[in-house]
Formats: sequence, structure tokens, C-alpha cells
Amino acid sequence: MHAWICHNPTGTDALQWEEVPTPEPGAGQARVAVKASSLNFPDILICQNKYQFKPTPPFVPGSEYAGVVEAVGDGVANVKPGDRVMVIGGTGGFGTHAVVPAEKLVPMPAGMSFEHGAAFLMTYGTTQHALLDRGQLKAGETVLVLGAAGGVGTAAVQIAKAAGARVIAAASTDAKCALCKEIGADATINYSTENIRDALKALTGGKGPDVVYDPVGGDLAEPVFRSIAWRGRYLVVGFAGGGIPALPLNLSLLKGAAIVGVFWGDFVRREPQAFQRDLQQLAQWYAEGKVTPVMDKTMPLADLHAAYARMGARQVVGKLVLLQP
Ligand SMILES: NC(=O)c1ccc[n+]([C@@H]2O[C@H](COP(=O)([O-])OP(=O)(O)OC[C@H]3O[C@@H](n4cnc5c(N)ncnc54)[C@H](OP(=O)(O)O)[C@@H]3O)[C@@H](O)[C@H]2O)c1
Repeated sequence: MHAWICHNPTGTDALQWEEVPTPEPGAGQARVAVKASSLNFPDILICQNKYQFKPTPPFVPGSEYAGVVEAVGDGVANVKPGDRVMVIGGTGGFGTHAVVPAEKLVPMPAGMSFEHGAAFLMTYGTTQHALLDRGQLKAGETVLVLGAAGGVGTAAVQIAKAAGARVIAAASTDAKCALCKEIGADATINYSTENIRDALKALTGGKGPDVVYDPVGGDLAEPVFRSIAWRGRYLVVGFAGGGIPALPLNLSLLKGAAIVGVFWGDFVRREPQAFQRDLQQLAQWYAEGKVTPVMDKTMPLADLHAAYARMGARQVVGKLVLLQP
């Protein structure tokens, strides 16, 4: 097999494409022939040893992927060779094959392509957990999505609409805002050119958004939190903008508003039954066409460095998926 290997966690530029022995699955494990894997911002942090999950080098990064079960070890009953699966990863997706605990495999919904399978589980799972569970978003409420044209951002626009909310999508360019409108946003804000507080005031009649979905962090967080509605919920999803913001807690008091953390990986580990319920809901929405991964482009797995350059330059719109024959 071949894989992109991280020997030194200094960033994705240091990943090397290497031939390594194809591993046999041990007891409780399965070997997956990877067909597609998507880029996720956390993989950049994992390759810099800056994420909450720190694998020991050498390792193969790639946290969201789909493929076909090739072989299973002793005691595996939930999957068999030939099954099409998505992987609750952490690592392994940027190789031709991955050996993983069989319990981390999820059957792909009927009719789903590998491209979509590689862009679904973590991206949509995170967002559903964030908006509906942690954020308690209700039909009729208004949600503001920051970084709304990105991977989890596009998922947030779709899931919030599926839940009956009004969606204000915010992004850094007019083209990204236009894409958000195409996938269902009711209104958009270009935060490179507009004052986000004024725009939110105008779009909500002065009330502010009930729920904020924030995968960006940085300088946007405080003005947005100052704009949140009474009893609002500010969802801390990630810090793609680089800076981890510090919010004055008096703002939370004044608005009766909550700052709510979102950690999908631990949610899956700690609350498997709730995760299974989420999966069923997501599969149903996918079948109904209410959620569909937004494809930026597909590239061969060998072009991983070029793919990350595109993500680093904020050019990715939706999901960039790496394909294998
Ligand atoms: N909490 C969890 O369980 C969980 C799970 C998955 C992902 N995440 C987090 O969610 C965040 C987004 O992940 P993703 O895979 O959706 O990433 P993505 O597709 O790259 O989207 C991130 C968005 O952030 C914005 N951004 C602002 N400043 C940026 C910068 N300096 N570099 C890159 N992007 C910048 C970009 O939108 P504009 O250009 O429009 O500003 C971009 O579309 C990451 O922080 C990730 O760690 C969290």
C-alpha cells in the first residue's frame, strides 16, 4: 500500500508519499480499501501537533474517508468484505488502505457515492450535533453561520434549513456568499466588506441571531457575540481563522446567552446511542435531498499538497475530496 506519512508533526508540507507494508487486520479490526477522503481543517492541526487529538508519529493523517471493507479480523460481526463504509476516523484516510477498529465503520446510506461518503460523517455529524443538540436550534429561530462556504459551514446552512430555521450565512467574499444563497441561505453577510454588527441588526430587526455557529473564531467572535439575541447560544466549533478569541463574560450575563462548546469526536465516543440517532436522522435527510455535500472539486490523492495549498488560501468552497482508483 501507499500512504502520506507524517514523521514530524511540523505541518502538511512535511507529509511524504511512501510505500509501506499492507497491514493485516487484528482481532476486532477491519482493513478498508480507501476510495475517497476529504480535506478537513483539523487534519492541518493534527499534522502540526496542535489539535486536541495527538497521534504518535509516524502516522497517516486523514480523518474523514469512505471505502470498501477488504478483510476483517477475528470477532468482527458488524461488517464483512465488500461492504461500502464511512469511517469514524481520526487518522488513516490519506492512504490507499487503512486498518481500523470495526466499531468505527458506518455503512454508507444506499445510493451514496464515495465522494459524498468521504464528505459526510464528520462534516455533517459535527454540525448536526452542534446545531440541534448543543445549540437546541428550533424551527423559526435565526441562525448565523460564520465561514458559511467552508466544509462544516455549508453543512450548517443545509442542516439549519432542514430544521426549519432562518439562515444568515457569513463569508469572506461575494462569490462565497452567492454559493451560500444557492444552497439555501436566506440572507448573507460579506464580513470582509460589511460591518457585521450593522448587518446583523438590519437583518434581524435589531434582535440578533438566536444561534451562532462559529468554526472561524478570531476577531469576528466578539462583535458577533455582542449582537446575539436574548437567550442566544454561541456555538464554539473551531478556530480556522487562527486566533482563539477571549470573550468578556459580562456579555453573556447581559444577554442571558450561553457559550456552548462542541466536540464531535468525544460526543461519538461518550454518547454512542445519541450518535446512532443522529446518523439515522442524517441518512433520512440525505435520502430526502435536504442535505447533500457541496463539492468544491475532486483531485487525485497524490495531489494532497496542492489540495492543502488550496485550503490554506481559503479557496475551498464546500468540500475538497481526494479520489483513488
Ligand atoms: N468541534 C468539532 O468537533 C469540529 C469538528 C470538525 C471541524 N471543526 C473545526 O471547524 C473548523 C472548520 O473546519 P472545515 O474543515 O470546515 O474548514 P474549511 O472548509 O477550511 O472552512 C473554514 C472556513 O474558515 C474561514 N477562514 C477564516 N480565516 C481562515 C484562515 N486563515 N484559513 C482558513 N480558513 C479561514 C474560511 O471562510 P472565509 O474565507 O469565508 O472566511 C473557510 O471557509 C476548523 O477550525 C475545525 O477544526 C470542529
